[in-house]
Amino acid sequence: MTRRAVVVGTGHYLPERVVENAEFEATLDTTDEWIRSRSGIERRHFAAEGETTSDMAARAAERALADAGLTADDVDAIVVATSTPDLTFPSAATMVQSKLGMTKGFAFDVQAVCAGFVYALSNASALIASGQASRVMVIGAETFSRIMDWTDRSTCVLFGDGAGALLLEAQDQPGTNKDRGILATDLNSDGRYKDLLYVDGGVSTHTTGHLRMQGNQVFRHAVEKLASTANTALDRAGLSAGDVDWIVPHQANIRIIQGTAKKMGLSMDNVVVTVQDHGNTSAASIPLALSVGKDRGQIKEGDLIVTEAIGGGLAWGAVVLRW
Ligand code: UT7
Repeated sequence: MTRRAVVVGTGHYLPERVVENAEFEATLDTTDEWIRSRSGIERRHFAAEGETTSDMAARAAERALADAGLTADDVDAIVVATSTPDLTFPSAATMVQSKLGMTKGFAFDVQAVCAGFVYALSNASALIASGQASRVMVIGAETFSRIMDWTDRSTCVLFGDGAGALLLEAQDQPGTNKDRGILATDLNSDGRYKDLLYVDGGVSTHTTGHLRMQGNQVFRHAVEKLASTANTALDRAGLSAGDVDWIVPHQANIRIIQGTAKKMGLSMDNVVVTVQDHGNTSAASIPLALSVGKDRGQIKEGDLIVTEAIGGGLAWGAVVLRW
């Protein structure tokens, strides 16, 4: 038997405020048509004043616990993927732990920007496989609206806020690629590309900073690297693209999502797409899409899913799991 990390609950939270593309036309030299056609984004949610990453993460986690029929006492560990924690420290994960009323176990953050959720899933799977935890709450949560330069039309129209959570549970499975749970992962980074997407501030530079991106350069890397990492993870699981029921990609740009599916030889009918409603929510985008995809009735038990993401670092990767 093989100890696998199986998804037993999902949940997501989106802040109440919805901002349509047209709102940006009042303050920026942009149009709904440009944003829609270049990125696929139609609207995004922005956190309210005072609403923090850990607030949204805790809401998503509460919903994942309710979905699983479990309570915080049943969880051993919390991993939060975020680049926009409430405070420099402690981790957003420990804040979620306290908001859930959980007084045992351990909690920590993972920072790999838009690839953060893939990194967090991979870490959580390893914690479960090695017996260090039996149930892990894996959350992606971001308030990117706090690091936007509202005068930079090339970035501020692309990002949104939100949170998604998956509750993973250790289950003994036969040990084949027909098992439920996480079957394989592939993680990569290459710091030579650090200047393509970064925030120009941080604790040791005494500033908060704003997001800066060379969008078309990141785009080129994304199309090349995402299909490749997804295929590598599938290969590690002894599977191929033809076995995939759903690609659940990082939701940055519909053209990247389409390009990746095409490179993998899959139709858009096999892709969960939420970018039109959420924008790019960085590490939150994949768990948001998984939770929404399940609520829509797209993702069902037994489906083979590949998630893939790329972001600042550059950091990128993929996870293959059976739902
Ligand atoms: O999640 C982390 C990973 N991030 C991504 O994956 C993002 C990847 N990049 C992208 O999604 C796309 O590159 C963008 C959506 C950011 C931009 O699309 P693009 O087709 O690569 O456009 P571009 O950057 O080459 O810009 C084309 C033109 C430029 O004008 P010129 O230089 O051709 O005159 C920009 O100044 O579009 C202009 N532009 C805009 N025009 C109207 C840039 N932003 C806007 C805007 N409205 N908001």
